[in-house]
Amino acid sequence: MSFPATRLRRLRRTDALRGMVRETRLSAADLIQPLFVRAGSGPATPIPSLSEQYHHSIETLVEEARAVHAAGVPAVILFGIPDHKDEAASSAYDEEGIVQLGLRAIRLAVPELVLITDVCLCQYTSHGHCGVLRDGDVDNDLTLELLAQTAVSHAAAGADIVAPSDMMDGRVAAIRAALDADGLTSTAILAYSAKFASSFYGPFREAAHSTPSEGDRRGYQMDPANANEALREVLLDIGEGADMVMVKPAMPYLDVIRRVREATLAPIAAYQVSGEYAMLTAAARDGLLDERAAALEALTAIKRAGADMIITYHASRAAGWLS
Ligand code: PBG
Repeated sequence: MSFPATRLRRLRRTDALRGMVRETRLSAADLIQPLFVRAGSGPATPIPSLSEQYHHSIETLVEEARAVHAAGVPAVILFGIPDHKDEAASSAYDEEGIVQLGLRAIRLAVPELVLITDVCLCQYTSHGHCGVLRDGDVDNDLTLELLAQTAVSHAAAGADIVAPSDMMDGRVAAIRAALDADGLTSTAILAYSAKFASSFYGPFREAAHSTPSEGDRRGYQMDPANANEALREVLLDIGEGADMVMVKPAMPYLDVIRRVREATLAPIAAYQVSGEYAMLTAAARDGLLDERAAALEALTAIKRAGADMIITYHASRAAGWLS
């Protein structure tokens, strides 16, 4: 059957008809809000590279976590801005580290909120790389030990889910083994499995003070040109015990999200990263895009591609727009 008998416009005629045949529904329950926590007290300070995002003290972090939960967003992912960096990233796995303190505070105040932590060393190393340097190169196996220690300290402080974003080989297995050895068998792992060496992380690195002082991350993060390799990463991580996998960034990699969807039944997260957010907010600020409409369209497209959940700097506000 084709035109004139078939007219696809019939079901686009009214809002109600469009609603009945809508294939993808975005809801607040799909979203995860990133939050940044820094040492020290006082008011939240705006992050210049990320409009309407803040560096929180523990007090304002707790307030913000309450607001995120009240908006209907089920989860946050925490990033720490430590006041001390060294070669061994020691503040990453310090029991009194900034993320660990933040976790305990939110856990007490907002017990139902799902707490995810980014497990990586780049904010904590003096050189800004995601692992330990040896002869100028990031040493994979030495780094695993520190990542596992970091994940265990996050779980012990109340994280429900630890999310390794370092892209070392074997880190999911190392983290699973360390969690289990400490009796933390219920802590889930969300692996940043297909994490590309992307220029879209720029605003985040400014926000997190984690730009490498020398070199770049192409020796461990993935080549943006590769999709088969992304599937290999995903399948390896699931084999090592990942409970959920991630594709990052999101919108430039919708094909990868789709292929991962077809390759696994595991839950998939997509990370709409800082550069994607900055493009939307900058264009909106210049009057070139309607921020609300463009953000909701982008998030819907990421879900349509196959993501079950989306980490987005718009999470809280999008939840408001969707209610
Ligand atoms: C840490 C990490 C990064 C992001 C999330 N975790 C930065 C990087 O890998 O350089 C980027 C998030 C964003 O751009 O929003 N490794």
